[in-house]
Amino acid sequence: MIKLPGLIDPHVHMREPGASHKEDFDSGTSAALAGGFTIILTMPNTKPPIFDSDTLDMVLNAASKKARCDYAQFVGAGPDNAEKAASLADKAAGLKMYLDSTFGELRLDDMTLWLPHFEKYPKNYPIVAHSESRSMAAAILFAAIYDRPVHIAHISLKEEVLIIKAAKEHGIKVTCEVCPHHLFLSNEDIPLISNGHAGRGEVRPRLATKEDVDALWKNLDVIDCFATDHAPHTIDEKDSDNPPPGFPGLETALPLLLNAVSESRLSISDIIEKMYSNPKRIFSLPDQPETWVEVEENAVYEIKAEDQFSRCNWTPFEGWKVKGKISKVVLRGETAFEDGKILVQAGYGRNVRG
Ligand code: NCD
Ligand code: ZN
Repeated sequence: MIKLPGLIDPHVHMREPGASHKEDFDSGTSAALAGGFTIILTMPNTKPPIFDSDTLDMVLNAASKKARCDYAQFVGAGPDNAEKAASLADKAAGLKMYLDSTFGELRLDDMTLWLPHFEKYPKNYPIVAHSESRSMAAAILFAAIYDRPVHIAHISLKEEVLIIKAAKEHGIKVTCEVCPHHLFLSNEDIPLISNGHAGRGEVRPRLATKEDVDALWKNLDVIDCFATDHAPHTIDEKDSDNPPPGFPGLETALPLLLNAVSESRLSISDIIEKMYSNPKRIFSLPDQPETWVEVEENAVYEIKAEDQFSRCNWTPFEGWKVKGKISKVVLRGETAFEDGKILVQAGYGRNVRG
């Protein structure tokens, strides 16, 4: 048995408000606990999006009633809310900026709209940028100009990891995360995931080439966090004519990474650093006393959507055999998950910015 600290996932989509049939704070935080996460940071691209004090209060109210693990909520950057968003910083996980193709309404194409956000958002919290390729380079330039931290969400490309490496070497305050699906899948796996339904392979950023995947593995020291970008859409939606992009990930991330440990591609200390120490520091998160995760490092099992708590009812890793199983999660002194069962009530979870 290995004991890990309660893990932190800095990138989760809960779908509440507006699309609880995909996920809500009850099902999503159950999935988080089953995956070994005791803090999740939730994204603002809901319906309506979270972009001001009313919408933030609305989502925090739902979370306080339903969440089973701890959480904090991002505020989204819109075309004219820079001042408002900055004033909410102490209540929010951080500011999320959507600078590239995404699901939902929060997208800022025009770079002049980025300026007031980089200028005004308090520097003690990071701005998280969904920015790919050249817009990622632009986001890093903004961080350099304003001398403030930016955290690049879900990097997937060789050029991205190499630019971040160079930016870090030059003292720019940039950190980044990578998702398990960009480490364990490439665009060559799309036919298998799709199984005749092209929409199942859709995710943003798209699955990249083998060369990109290799570059991420080669530059693991540049990667600060593993984040799931848990983006649940139901299997019917994925198989429809207009499939939304996104993969669920909360319940598969740690088992896939433990499996990589069993293959000597990673170490347990990499997991602790990228799923606990680094996200805790980057997002200024508090200690969770009497909180830990127990894993059976030699237990082999098969990933199955039917075993998951997520409402989306599918996984791109269906049928994968992994070595490393989460047996127990203790959160603030209470056993929250054991032997496949969630043991804390809805509402047990706390807002870590509360
Ligand atoms: C995300 C979603 O579904 O909310 N989808 C995705 O493919 N990652 C949106 C996003 O994070 O860009
Ligand atoms: Zn996302």
